[in-house]
Amino acid sequence: MKICVYPGSFDPFTIGHLDVLMSAANLFDRVYVGVLNNTAKNPVFTPGERVDMINTVIESYGLRNVIADQFDGLLVDYAKRIHAGYLIRGLRAITDFEYEFQIDAMNHHLAPDIKTVYFMSLPAHSFLSSSTIKEVVSFGADIKGLVPDCILKNITERLNKQ
Ligand code: PNS
Repeated sequence: MKICVYPGSFDPFTIGHLDVLMSAANLFDRVYVGVLNNTAKNPVFTPGERVDMINTVIESYGLRNVIADQFDGLLVDYAKRIHAGYLIRGLRAITDFEYEFQIDAMNHHLAPDIKTVYFMSLPAHSFLSSSTIKEVVSFGADIKGLVPDCILKNITERLNKQ
């Protein structure tokens, strides 16, 4: 069975993440969406809230081979615990490459047998990030079409409370 982890902060989950997740779900037998539980990044949404949002997306899109989970510590240790041989990352633009290259080099050093598979974002999503979503919502912008519809209300209400 081919198992992968799609790790990230997902603070919050966007349609760019959804696109990558659907590609991974088509390619692998089982996909764990690993929400990083790391307070050092000062996330707005708690790990539990992010896992709940991803579960709503999984249900709404009928992604039966996807499991939302959270982890802390090293990503490769988490991957080993759940017997995942692959990591999934999305690449939006050349600016992502430097960061991803660094992460990949470190993960490879720590666990050479675990490989990373990259999916290019759709051009229409190349500008999209969780940070920009949080920023524009704070100024009252409508984020319909930028996050999955099934979690739009939840995200907007929660960010408006900030
Ligand atoms: O969505 P993000 O914030 O770009 O995801 C970053 C993530 C979760 C992939 C990365 O921070 C991570 O793997 N953190 C866990 C700690 C770790 O394993 N670090 C070694 C790789 S640099």
